[in-house]
Amino acid sequence: MNSNKTTIYHDLKDQHVFITGGATGIGAEMVRAFAAQGARVAFIDYDEINARQLCDDLMNDQFHKPWFKKVDVTNVNTLENAIADAIKEFGPIYALINNVANDERHTPEEMNEEKWRASLAVNLDPAFFASKAVYESMKLNHQGSIINFSSINALLGPANMPAYVTAKAGLVGMTKALSKDYGDNNIRVNAILPGWVITDRQIEKWLTPEAEEEWKKLVALKDRIMPIDVAKLAIFLASSDSKMITGQSFVIDAGRT
Ligand SMILES: NC(=O)c1ccc[n+]([C@@H]2O[C@H](COP(=O)([O-])OP(=O)(O)OC[C@H]3O[C@@H](n4cnc5c(N)ncnc54)[C@H](O)[C@@H]3O)[C@@H](O)[C@H]2O)c1
Repeated sequence: MNSNKTTIYHDLKDQHVFITGGATGIGAEMVRAFAAQGARVAFIDYDEINARQLCDDLMNDQFHKPWFKKVDVTNVNTLENAIADAIKEFGPIYALINNVANDERHTPEEMNEEKWRASLAVNLDPAFFASKAVYESMKLNHQGSIINFSSINALLGPANMPAYVTAKAGLVGMTKALSKDYGDNNIRVNAILPGWVITDRQIEKWLTPEAEEEWKKLVALKDRIMPIDVAKLAIFLASSDSKMITGQSFVIDAGRT
């Protein structure tokens, strides 16, 4: 199978796609992939160095240059202002990708109220407040697609990350709830639940030969899941080819669950 041959979804051309946490990992791959679809990509992240590098890399291509703003998404006001600025720049948002997260490990004993709220402030809250912030512009256009990044950890509930798992499970519920709230305005809300996706951060922090061997025993498909595999699902859910799909959770995990 040649995975480099990507489908082009013509409705995405020149449309405004807004991505949170787009500087690295799956987010950066989505910035590249949506740009390659001809979309106008706006993204935010607190990692300015990688974000600027990504924008420069894409300058050399034939695509629209992405719009970037340095934002810490735990500050709701700043998040909302960035979305308003992006709308001024690129017009109404066609697709919002709530991708930002931080999968730091912690035991329940290490948690206190401050750390718990800090985890939800990056892993859960931005998806809600960003969705609320794009709603008016999507409503005016009577269309829109919101994609929330959950995780198969919401289904499996592994140890040593209770706040992250709670947030990711919350995103599945939020997806259902907002799909009902926003459906009258033809705004769709879906969730993606990836399995282990081999980003640079995963390689740096968690990928050992032993861990990968263990993962391979548990999955049906023995290839690595790469960021582009996930980006392709996001592109489908953003495009009008998925126009009657809403309120759903899509697992992409090589058959792990
Ligand atoms: N990689 C995986 O194996 C995997 C598995 C399941 C689910 N996911 C989900 O997919 C999405 C992307 O995963 P990833 O592995 O690329 O994540 P990542 O941690 O590599 O990247 C997240 C991005 O968010 C940014 N970010 C973190 N905190 C921020 C903050 N407070 N303000 C602004 N930006 C901030 C980071 O700088 C980074 O660019 C996440 O929602 C993650 O939970 C990933």
